[in-house]
Amino acid sequence: MNPHKLLPTLSSITTSDEWYTYYKANAEFQLEIPWKHGAGITEDEQNAIADSLAAWQLGETSDGLHLLAAAKNYAQRIKDPKYVDVIELFIKEEQRHGGDLGRFLDLAQIPRLQRNWGDTLFRKIRYAIPTMEIWTTPVIMVETVALVYYKAIQNATNSPVLKQLCQQILRDEVKHIRFQYERLAVIHKNRPALLRKLTYLIQ
Ligand SMILES: [Fe+2]
Ligand SMILES: [Fe+2]
Repeated sequence: MNPHKLLPTLSSITTSDEWYTYYKANAEFQLEIPWKHGAGITEDEQNAIADSLAAWQLGETSDGLHLLAAAKNYAQRIKDPKYVDVIELFIKEEQRHGGDLGRFLDLAQIPRLQRNWGDTLFRKIRYAIPTMEIWTTPVIMVETVALVYYKAIQNATNSPVLKQLCQQILRDEVKHIRFQYERLAVIHKNRPALLRKLTYLIQ
């Protein structure tokens, strides 16, 4: 069954059980990526995308331990243990993106990055104060930019592998954004109006 039909309408907050079912089903509902075609990009394409694609590959690659620790604390506080299981599946999905992008880089003989200033900065922000709110806020920002980036790459390339890989990532990321903004909504819900305004200002 299409996992995207498992989620409730946008007017309600999805429960951790529903997200769990979705992520489980989504892991089984993958587009076929025609790896056998090879990278299939021209030299011009390669020159244009090598740096950014390697940076995104690094960004999608993480052991998720900081996030898992923040999620465990948070889940205990709100008495929603299932949330930790959902976060584990979410981390796996991001690791799949990193793994597939890495496989593409290897096929195209584009060197993988070990460090990147944007990635380091982003990790520092997330690790500075390990709460779900501090973690989620910059992640929504990055995932929104990811939608623009992967869509642009998908439109620009003629590589069947890269096109399909972008399609899969885009499909997953749309739901990631919903997953994150719902969490922020839950976190902000009971915050006094003035404090909430201040939060938005800081954001
Ligand atoms: Fe991703
Ligand atoms: Fe994501």
